[in-house]
Amino acid sequence: MSDGKLHNADNTCWNCPAAKFRGNVDFRGCGQSRRIVPKGEDKQLMIECRRRDELGHFEPNITFEQCPEWEKMEYGYMLKNMKVMILGMDGYLGWTLSLWLANRGFEVSGIDDYTRRDCVMEKGSHTVVPIPRMTKKLEAARDELDITLNFRKMDLNDRKKLREFIEEVKPESIVHYAEIPSPPYSMVDAEHAIEVQRNNVLGTLGLLHIMRDVVPMTSLLKLGTMGEYGSPLTGRPLFEGLFPNDAILEWNDREWSLGGEMTPRDPHSFYHVSKVQDTYNVYEACKYWWLRSYDIMQGIIYGVHTDEVAAHPDLRTRLDYDEWFGTVINRFVTQAVHGIPLTIYGEGEQIRGMIALQDAMECMTRLIVSPPEPGQYDVVNQVSGLHKIKDVAETVAEVGNEKFDLDVTIQRLENPRVEAEKHPMEVVSRKLPQEHGFDPKVSMEKEVERMFDLLTKEEIKKRIKEKKHVIMPRTRWSGEKKESGVLEVYKPGEKEKGGYEGRLDTE
Ligand SMILES: NC(=O)c1ccc[n+]([C@@H]2O[C@H](COP(=O)([O-])OP(=O)(O)OC[C@H]3O[C@@H](n4cnc5c(N)ncnc54)[C@H](O)[C@@H]3O)[C@@H](O)[C@H]2O)c1
Repeated sequence: MSDGKLHNADNTCWNCPAAKFRGNVDFRGCGQSRRIVPKGEDKQLMIECRRRDELGHFEPNITFEQCPEWEKMEYGYMLKNMKVMILGMDGYLGWTLSLWLANRGFEVSGIDDYTRRDCVMEKGSHTVVPIPRMTKKLEAARDELDITLNFRKMDLNDRKKLREFIEEVKPESIVHYAEIPSPPYSMVDAEHAIEVQRNNVLGTLGLLHIMRDVVPMTSLLKLGTMGEYGSPLTGRPLFEGLFPNDAILEWNDREWSLGGEMTPRDPHSFYHVSKVQDTYNVYEACKYWWLRSYDIMQGIIYGVHTDEVAAHPDLRTRLDYDEWFGTVINRFVTQAVHGIPLTIYGEGEQIRGMIALQDAMECMTRLIVSPPEPGQYDVVNQVSGLHKIKDVAETVAEVGNEKFDLDVTIQRLENPRVEAEKHPMEVVSRKLPQEHGFDPKVSMEKEVERMFDLLTKEEIKKRIKEKKHVIMPRTRWSGEKKESGVLEVYKPGEKEKGGYEGRLDTE
């Protein structure tokens, strides 16, 4: 940070999951703020520390910098052996974060019920980067990185089992990745839409109740998506979930402050709707029960690299390319390796927030070690750049052609989705850089190159070829099942630049 301090140095017992609040704390102003009953002879604000019995009752004003239980690490002060539970541990992000955190001294536990593996199998596809069974992954983590992960196979919606596991572990932070993350999957038919909303919304709602009863002091890092906001055609900035204090609503010659109110959401699939519903459920739980949460509006993640997942083939994380579960850059690189023109939907002028895998892991770590205060619901927009889809295709084609001697072309397809294909986009993402010390380290070109390095290995090229029939989109938002027609094929560099530019506001 600018004064040389780590970003969470001045956080206090208010933020610490080890603090047990012992009365005279009035959270009625909760949601966004807390009110403390003024101190007086019999109105002393008191806490106990779960980790430091010797302190007895004391005032909650010890900072992380002062407390011996918080130690300096690369991404801030970290609670010694901090216990983090990762819901969705087998997934693309869950596995990567598990290894990343455990390798940095966190005690990591987690669950997964392999929903993702089943859904990808349902499509008739497989992860391009082969991943072994969970038992083998855990063994590899022990053998190659000397880390032990406390994993249980479990459905998030099995509340009895989940409660027992949380009671046993008493995590100090919970990262909730365990949802079905695919817009097209949620648009297949009624069964799929209902399954996505059941799994995601009810899973989160059940979790919130368990946290209330068992670990109310634990911070919840809940994964939302930038897709909750949509892309307003007015160009209104996408604030971090809540309007800033100086936002004003003017109407009919009168005005009101909007500060602290939830910003409008405009989801564009039934999956995104599940995330919006989660947002409201988490917000309410913080308000009613003084839970604390970061709702993380994450951009599209791309890439294959952290030092941990690259340490051994059995430690790699999955990478999907089918029309349901492949995310845009991951799909483009796979298509380039296989010689299929990169599939842009419609005009390709859609602008999206994105972030590389390793940078996303750093953001999560910084948030885990900087828990919100009791009752605090906070939102961060987790993106490192805004990119137009057709520009992303140019970047992938350029890296593929120049560094890997490929002949990558680009195709525009009929858009299977209902979305604006040309729109302004201004995203505010100030909290991670300003309050949590995050500075992106991985450029898109660099990560795309790492992806080509991995995906051009013979055994992976073979896996891509085996399932190439799952690449073209067939799931339309209209409900029709029909492969998108090709509108145009062109070579990189042929198109003129222009149109709207994204604006990322980090200051
Ligand atoms: N990858 C991205 O680009 C991206 C972008 C924005 C938001 N997100 C969000 O981040 C989270 C993780 O994304 P991901 O790409 O790692 O997806 P993923 O599907 O690879 O990971 C989710 C994991 O959770 C598991 N899971 C799902 N439902 C479960 C349940 N009921 N019980 C137990 N386990 C369950 C799945 O089996 C899977 O392993 C998701 O919530 C997703 O919506 C991802």
